[in-house]
Amino acid sequence: APDLMEAGEKVFKKCKACHQVGEGAKNRSGPHLNGLIGRTMGSVDGFAYSSVFAAALDEGRIWDEAALAEFLAKPKTYMKGTKMSFSGLKKDEDLAAITAYLKSYGE
Ligand code: HEM
Repeated sequence: APDLMEAGEKVFKKCKACHQVGEGAKNRSGPHLNGLIGRTMGSVDGFAYSSVFAAALDEGRIWDEAALAEFLAKPKTYMKGTKMSFSGLKKDEDLAAITAYLKSYGE
């Protein structure tokens, strides 16, 4: 739905300081977010993840919509020890919107 995408683009403004998505997206202080849904956690080449993400990679944990919503709601609770300095998204509608937005960049 176009309105959900628009809402997602707006929410992504909170992520942009650290993350890129879309054509030519590069790693910045956070990894690029292309193809996130279905991607193995901690798996972007050339990005130096924290040890909790390195462990998630070893375990083969996958980003699905449920995991993403839980992480983004409370990053430091879901991924204890993460270096992602983001307090979290409090509204369910924001979580739905950012999920739809990121899915549009591949899954
Ligand atoms: C990691 C999403 C905001 C910095 C991640 C990951 C996701 C994500 C899905 C894991 C990626 C993977 O496994 O490859 C988002 C979204 C945001 C957001 C959707 C906004 C709603 C931010 C902000 C910062 C940041 C504002 C910087 C202040 C990082 C860093 C990591 C990371 C450094 C790597 C974490 C680690 O290695 O522990 N982010 N993020 N993120 N993010 Fe964000």
